[in-house]
Amino acid sequence: AIERTLSIIKPDAVAKNVIGEIYTRFEKAGLKIVAAKMMHLSQEKAEGFYAEHKERPFFKDLVSFMTSGPVIVQVLEGENAVLTHRDLMGATNPAEAAAGTIRADFAQSIDENAVHGSDSVESAAREVSYFFADDEVCARTR
Ligand code: CMP
Repeated sequence: AIERTLSIIKPDAVAKNVIGEIYTRFEKAGLKIVAAKMMHLSQEKAEGFYAEHKERPFFKDLVSFMTSGPVIVQVLEGENAVLTHRDLMGATNPAEAAAGTIRADFAQSIDENAVHGSDSVESAAREVSYFFADDEVCARTR
């Protein structure tokens, strides 16, 4: 089915200047960018996004990293988009990520792991609406 998923290029990857290389991977895999914005997350915005991890020991470091510089947030659309995007990213921990994945190629550590992607269609719906109003997501008919 055609799905949408939320993608974030995190501060480490923006700082490494690999935004274009990551976008190219999305496009080559058949995912279309249907919304995008660059933003410097506030502490509140980052904490709200990761609210499900609030009790985890890494929460404070996660929020501090995600607010350390600008990110690019985008909505990707395509066949099986959630899983296709997760396959492109590789495992959360770059040390375990398969060769050729975004995290294997661009990430340093589990904390600074270059990208985020929704883990299910349900999370994607919530995460897309956390960052984008309905009219900010564009229909791509060609
Ligand atoms: P992300 O997909 O953005 O979702 C939560 C983030 O927390 C995750 O990527 C990692 O960058 C970070 N993180 C740090 N430590 C852990 C851990 N032990 N398990 C899962 N995520 C972690």
